[in-house]
Amino acid sequence: MTEQAIARAFGRAARSYDEHATVQISVARSLLGMLPDDFSAERAIDLGCGTASMARQLCTRLPHCHWLGVDVSQQMLDEAHQRGRLHDRYQPVCADATALPLADGSQDLLFSSFALQWVDSAAVCMEMNRVLRADGLLLMALPVAGTLRELKESWEQVDQQAHVNPLLAAPQWLQQLEQHRLACIDAQTVTVTEHYPSLTAIGRMLKLTGAHHVTGRQSAGLLSPRRRRALEQAYEMKREGKGLPLTWQVLFVVARKLA
Ligand SMILES: C[S@@+](CC[C@H](N)C(=O)[O-])C[C@H]1O[C@@H](n2cnc3c(N)ncnc32)[C@H](O)[C@@H]1O
Repeated sequence: MTEQAIARAFGRAARSYDEHATVQISVARSLLGMLPDDFSAERAIDLGCGTASMARQLCTRLPHCHWLGVDVSQQMLDEAHQRGRLHDRYQPVCADATALPLADGSQDLLFSSFALQWVDSAAVCMEMNRVLRADGLLLMALPVAGTLRELKESWEQVDQQAHVNPLLAAPQWLQQLEQHRLACIDAQTVTVTEHYPSLTAIGRMLKLTGAHHVTGRQSAGLLSPRRRRALEQAYEMKREGKGLPLTWQVLFVVARKLA
């Protein structure tokens, strides 16, 4: 998937993102909770910041730090501006995570939540290594293989096409980090399952958070009535007391750049 396609999908979701991104925003908060108490920083990046929903918490947690909110989608950054989240200590930069317009070793901390799952892992690890100073810290959380499992399995009952793009598995990310001299201090994979009243509600949430493009070339909304019914029937078999389950496998990592 190209950066332009990602930027377009998130651009379309910019307005609705915050109101529907429950999992994403709670993951970002948990990730910030993993910052070691004694770590201080003067320069940091919120990589793939989206609407900068974490700007206030990041600035409060590190009161002397200057943040760059980096995102490939200008519309997401415009939404951050509309929501009054940009200021002299949290400034926007529209750029791709694999080609940051920043000097080598210029950053003390990289924070990235729910943003790097569609990026070339080797390229982004190389870039993160480049801009971090020696001993600088990376805090990263992202969905990995096993995410949207129920949707994938339901599609498999309808046809043999890939409708949910594969994500890297946690060990593959950990290997990339290690190869790029980003030494893991902490790594945990957490399972988060949400429940929805219907397949329509799931499709809506994915669309309004910009994540629908991961569901591949044919979304539920574009299906013929017959195939949509088949998908619904397959998903209904998974219904639980609280509704239709949708699972995210989220990898949380704290890593230090080796000197
Ligand atoms: C799901 S949102 C997460 C936003 C925010 N970090 C949060 O937790 O709410 C993912 C964001 O990552 C951005 N993104 C995806 N790929 C990117 C890339 N290669 N470079 C920079 N930003 C990227 C998207 O444009 C989108 O705004």
